[in-house]
Amino acid sequence: MSRMNKRILAIYYSQSGQMEEIIDTFTSPLTEAGAEVEKVVIRPLEDYDFPWTGSRFFSVMPSCVLSIPTALEPLIFKQEKYDLIILGYQPWFLSPSIPSNSLLQNNQFKTLLKGTPVVAISAARNMWLNAYVRVRNSLKEAGANLVGNVALVDKHPNVVSFITIFYWMLSGKKERYLNIFPKPGVAEEDIANTETFGKIVADHLQNNTLDTLQDELLKQNAVVINYSLMFTEARAKPIFAVWAKIISKRKNQAPWLVAFKYYLFIALFLGAPVLLTLDAIFLKPFSSKRIKANKLKYLQVNN
Ligand SMILES: Cc1cc2nc3c(=O)[nH]c(=O)nc-3n(C[C@H](O)[C@H](O)[C@H](O)COP(=O)(O)O)c2cc1C
Repeated sequence: MSRMNKRILAIYYSQSGQMEEIIDTFTSPLTEAGAEVEKVVIRPLEDYDFPWTGSRFFSVMPSCVLSIPTALEPLIFKQEKYDLIILGYQPWFLSPSIPSNSLLQNNQFKTLLKGTPVVAISAARNMWLNAYVRVRNSLKEAGANLVGNVALVDKHPNVVSFITIFYWMLSGKKERYLNIFPKPGVAEEDIANTETFGKIVADHLQNNTLDTLQDELLKQNAVVINYSLMFTEARAKPIFAVWAKIISKRKNQAPWLVAFKYYLFIALFLGAPVLLTLDAIFLKPFSSKRIKANKLKYLQVNN
């Protein structure tokens, strides 16, 4: 294959280094093919200390859900225009993380986005659908052309990854909790496999066929929709919005954030299984068309 003469911007935020590892792996085939890959890390002026404490973790919920941006260190780009932008982001509280959301609201970045193809890549625990829709809408508003999406998740059962992610976020160690639980976050093999997705992007960029990129990525399972998680996230989204609005109006938010924390535990361990059971009996068997249409909404890059 001839060397490709393309300029690519890969921009992302990462606390634990997971997204950094993903971006490095994902972009390696592009660099190998000869593209110039410029990596830019988003840095909030006041960054969030990692690892988190429990109360700080929950304290960012209202700003995440209500899309309130934070100030970023000045963004420095070598070029005025790129052939492709790769955006790595992570969901926080079913929303784009505050640093990612702040980037999407940044005028300098929006100017770069205009008329530029974008590939988005997210690394979540397992609930990324609502954050993706919001990222996709922001990209569209900025006039970007979203051509591909890769959604990486922790594939362990929902309650297991809920426990292990807290261990990870509060200890800073991406390790097995108590030596009983599996490793938290996106599995090493799934991170390694992003190289395959990067190769597909390289081919499509080289051959000017970015319009069929997402179909190809989907064939390689770059996005997989889990029905129970889709169901749970759809129920949680409006409830999070109500909590965020109530909490953001309080002078003393601490007790409300504690209440939200307990709500979250109860909703996940009790509410979700009950609703999922009722759904499996009364709704799901008669909704296959609607479910298929819903899934399609999240598999596609256009809305
Ligand atoms: C405050 C906070 C909220 C999070 N909320 C979600 C969520 O709603 N859904 C989800 O799948 N993952 C959630 N995660 C996990 C992140 O998406 C991500 O996988 C993890 O923080 C590692 O990202 P990193 O690249 O910054 O290290 C959350 C993480 C943090 C820190």
